[in-house]
Amino acid sequence: MPPAPLRLGLAGLGTVGTGVVQILQNHAALIAARAGRPVVITAVSARSKGKDRGVDLSGFAWEDDPVALAKRDDIDVFVEVMGGHEGAARAATEAAIAAGKDVVTANKALLAHYGQDLALAAEAAGRVIRFEAAVAGGIPVIKALTEGLAGNQIKRVMGVMNGSCNYILTRMQNEGLSYEAVFDAAQKLGYLEADPNLDVGGIDAGHKLSLLAAIAFGTKVSFDAVELEGIGAISIDDIRLAADMGYRIKLLGVAQMTGRGLEQRMTPCLVPADSPLGQLQGGTNMVVLEGDSVGQIVMRGAGAGMGPTASAVMGDVIDIARGFRLPTFGIPATALATPTPAKAATPAPYYLRMTLVDKPGALAKIATCLGEAGVSIDQMRQYGHEGTNAPVLIVTHKATRDDIDHAVGLFAATGVLVGAPVALRIEEV
Ligand code: NAP
Ligand code: HSE
Repeated sequence: MPPAPLRLGLAGLGTVGTGVVQILQNHAALIAARAGRPVVITAVSARSKGKDRGVDLSGFAWEDDPVALAKRDDIDVFVEVMGGHEGAARAATEAAIAAGKDVVTANKALLAHYGQDLALAAEAAGRVIRFEAAVAGGIPVIKALTEGLAGNQIKRVMGVMNGSCNYILTRMQNEGLSYEAVFDAAQKLGYLEADPNLDVGGIDAGHKLSLLAAIAFGTKVSFDAVELEGIGAISIDDIRLAADMGYRIKLLGVAQMTGRGLEQRMTPCLVPADSPLGQLQGGTNMVVLEGDSVGQIVMRGAGAGMGPTASAVMGDVIDIARGFRLPTFGIPATALATPTPAKAATPAPYYLRMTLVDKPGALAKIATCLGEAGVSIDQMRQYGHEGTNAPVLIVTHKATRDDIDHAVGLFAATGVLVGAPVALRIEEV
């Protein structure tokens, strides 16, 4: 008897969904050989049935309702590539688990918000949820953490996990363009999510970091505890000044377990220009994993796009076809610890850029605030006067984010500040 095929129900026929259809249609024999059994799509769902998607869907049953798709008797795995953390994606994923299906999803928003509940439900039902495509697109970082590095105590997880932000920052750097100009170009090219704040606000990358942290540290997903700061306040001045000092600005995620608890932050940081993270160009992602035995691993590749994301979905599907099963976050969801959130516990030098009223004593007032907050100045520079305003750059010695925030709070009462200061951590990578 030939082995029974693994039957997929595919919810979502957009960028990722059509990529999955293409891979299965182009590589059916290769996938069957690797999986030990054929992998087939039985039924699909999307919003508009009549839309030409550039792929042949004629062999698949159609469901208008993804919840109905999730419950079909003739599917084994529900592949959710619709997106959104509420509505259809959530309802259909819950329905799939309740109906005894395994789930493969690319949906980081859903898992960042409901990962713990979904993992508990799936594991209680003896089902798996796989989500390689949800973090850093085509880079197999979930597999690396849950499998290849399973013998390590993970020390730190870092990375650039939003391609759109890296695209914007590197175009600003390379072409000397303003944030606004590159943002507009990225939007016209379709690089940004429908709600661009998910990208430039750091939310999408924060979702991804929270999922990696759960696996790395054996903790419940705690997206709400991620310190989030987007790239909207980064000006071309910041990019230039950072470059003058030998740094690049990146939207960098860092998660580490400290003595005070779990630190998770997704914020713009300065990293050395000649480091692998500093060299990262365009929409590419990079994830850095540090384990006690393995040392540092650097993974780099396409974080988005049809082929890379569908590649990650298929890796998960083939694992299920092979009979490989593991808990959603590497250890049973019932055993995941509740993390204590720790706000940027590790001190680092900070880059502070501000504009001051150009009058006697203005700089002295700012220096006094820093002193009062316990922050020591390493370098200070006043540059390019603009009328009655004086742009000022200060690089501090190592300080905590709390001390920097304290100092910035004190600046406000000096009456010499024009606009809001920019405070960026200088990260050791
Ligand atoms: P997309 O191109 O917008 O496609 C979404 C698909 O879902 C469309 O086919 C849409 O139907 C369908 N859909 C949406 N709401 C639905 C509903 N209520 N009922 C039935 N179908 C519905 O999105 P995508 O870029 O493929 O992204 C899909 C998921 O993958 C998201 O979770 C995203 O975050 C994740 N992801 C995407 C990428 C990437 O590079 N695109 C990378 C990593 C992860 P219609 O086509 O009929 O409108
Ligand atoms: N908007 C995301 C990015 C898509 O730019 O990386 C992949 O999650």
